Amino acid sequence: MEGTKTVGRLEGKVIFLTGAGAGIAKATALSCVREGAKVALFELNEEAGAGAEKQIRAAGGSALFVHTDVTDDDSVREAVAKTVQHFGRLDVIFNCAGGSSQEDHPVHEMDLEVWHKTIALNLLHPFLTCRHGIPHLIKAGGGSIINVTSHLGLVGSIKPAYAATKGGIISFTKTLAAQYVQYGIRANAIAPGSIRTERQISRYESKDYIEKPSTAARERAMFQKLYPFSKGEPDDIASIAVFLASDESRMLTGTTIAADGGRSSYLKVYSE
Ligand SMILES: NC(=O)c1ccc[n+]([C@@H]2O[C@H](COP(=O)([O-])OP(=O)(O)OC[C@H]3O[C@@H](n4cnc5c(N)ncnc54)[C@H](O)[C@@H]3O)[C@@H](O)[C@H]2O)c1
Repeated sequence: MEGTKTVGRLEGKVIFLTGAGAGIAKATALSCVREGAKVALFELNEEAGAGAEKQIRAAGGSALFVHTDVTDDDSVREAVAKTVQHFGRLDVIFNCAGGSSQEDHPVHEMDLEVWHKTIALNLLHPFLTCRHGIPHLIKAGGGSIINVTSHLGLVGSIKPAYAATKGGIISFTKTLAAQYVQYGIRANAIAPGSIRTERQISRYESKDYIEKPSTAARERAMFQKLYPFSKGEPDDIASIAVFLASDESRMLTGTTIAADGGRSSYLKVYSE
């Protein structure tokens, strides 16, 4: 319409995203910028972080790559300080870095190192970013915290360390909601199903994986048949994150949005 200026849904907001050199967080950073936000990319992999920054800047967006190890208290403190120094404020925290290990074996067989590393990346990390980020959200008069968990945090799985951390994120999110409501801060989580990130594609869509199917591959194919909406793209999660970052979601706090095509909601018996 003539004379109508489109205003982005995140206009003026400053957001930091962890693990933003790849996958879901990178897609979310791009979506947030399209909606008018300025983004700080906290990433351990220098090449990936610098690449994401370059891509966003080339598209006309405002991005700052901050080399960060989200499992290290000093590194997170410095990254948050650099973000606020650069952009002048902080409105949204998007905690996304994380993952599971192939060595996440049954409890009585697991190497303790695997347990500690998984806890550090998936659970200590959101604690550290909140610890250093929340004072700035309070200063800004409110904000939104978005934690990325997994459908496996809602139902449990055969990966004990991963399931424990992702379940922990859900309780931690509820606690953040309770603790910071008086500051106008909301906290919510997203529980993705199977997302076609670069990492997932190279693993599950490789010729090798498809041509030599294992029990795990067969189970994966069966789940996708039973829950066809459970497989998505990074942009599917980015859309939910934009909604949670924006004031459109102002009635939501303490909740977990299960973006898993029903996998944590109902059990479907397989029959052909
Ligand atoms: N992809 C899926 O199917 C899926 C499903 C459910 C949940 N999740 C969750 O979504 C989140 C993102 O997953 P993804 O598949 O997009 O991941 P990804 O592996 O594609 O990207 C993760 C990014 O985090 C960075 N990173 C790793 N350790 C770091 C550290 N210590 N400090 C800073 N950055 C670090 C990596 O370098 C990488 O760029 C994770 O928490 C994951 O558990 C993913």
